[in-house]
Amino acid sequence: VKKVLLFGDIGIDDTVALIYARLNKEIEIVGLVADYGNVSREDAVSNIYYVMKLFDFPKEIPVILGAEVPLTGEQPTYYPEIHGERGLGPIIPNEDPEIKIENFWEIIKIIEKYKDELIIVNIGRLTSLATLFILYNKLMKNVKEIYMMGGAFWVPGNVTTVAEANFHGDPFAVNIVLTYATNVTIIPLNATQKAIVTPGMVDYIDSFGKTKILKPLMQYYTRFYQERDPSLLGSPVHDALTLMATIYPNMFIYESYPVTVVDKLEGPARGQSIAETRPYENLNDRKKRHRIAFDIHYDMFFHNFMSIMTG
Ligand code: BDR
Ligand code: CA
Repeated sequence: VKKVLLFGDIGIDDTVALIYARLNKEIEIVGLVADYGNVSREDAVSNIYYVMKLFDFPKEIPVILGAEVPLTGEQPTYYPEIHGERGLGPIIPNEDPEIKIENFWEIIKIIEKYKDELIIVNIGRLTSLATLFILYNKLMKNVKEIYMMGGAFWVPGNVTTVAEANFHGDPFAVNIVLTYATNVTIIPLNATQKAIVTPGMVDYIDSFGKTKILKPLMQYYTRFYQERDPSLLGSPVHDALTLMATIYPNMFIYESYPVTVVDKLEGPARGQSIAETRPYENLNDRKKRHRIAFDIHYDMFFHNFMSIMTG
């Protein structure tokens, strides 16, 4: 069983990832870090509680306050048109008096408890994860693997023509993580845009009654994607695919390259992810390489998603 500490900006596809994690017995969520991104950090916290209660997640899973603003010093922008007013599509979670949140250093206890068993999965901006490398650089070396949903390599972005949302939101944070972290796997739009879930798939999954809110969430999300591109047969579950990468390596086609992100805040290139594929001029400029998923085997994704989500 993979012990996963999940950093998320709990919007619609983050929620699909949480439902997937709850139904997949290979995954044990050992902590949830609520970050700004698709939604405000406050909405990320209330969405985490809403989903944890609805799907009966173990009560002892700590919910940790993550980043509220990016390292760039900007005010974050949210995306209600994609994820809904509060990040759950049409659903407005009511105030939950029982919300109990832990401070950021609770993450250190989790890392010390699980050590090299721990897998970190980042499905939002990289601000919280970068902060961990700034505050606890040596301790972070204990973490077994880091998976991040982000980037777009030589394919169009989704927030600008070149940049993917998680990398665009805080490009400084991405470069900090890529500088210090080892064992990083990047799941970019190259792979996630292939992880399409269609309305027909959702209806079939919904008929099994295990996923409760999946249908209204995906209807809201798919409406946005199909309005932008009517040829799309459904919408990409970026974050659920990233969770799958922790368990099913041969679902993905990987190559490893040094990666940098354009962190010039103004201008058209902000957030562009660059994989350095040219051969090294000389051996001593060999930079750290990160594993990048450039494609997936859609049949394996489809089979896994359908079998897990129908319980
Ligand atoms: C990423 O940004 C968010 O919109 C999604 O939740 C996903 O994590 C896709 O670019
Ligand atoms: Ca996300």
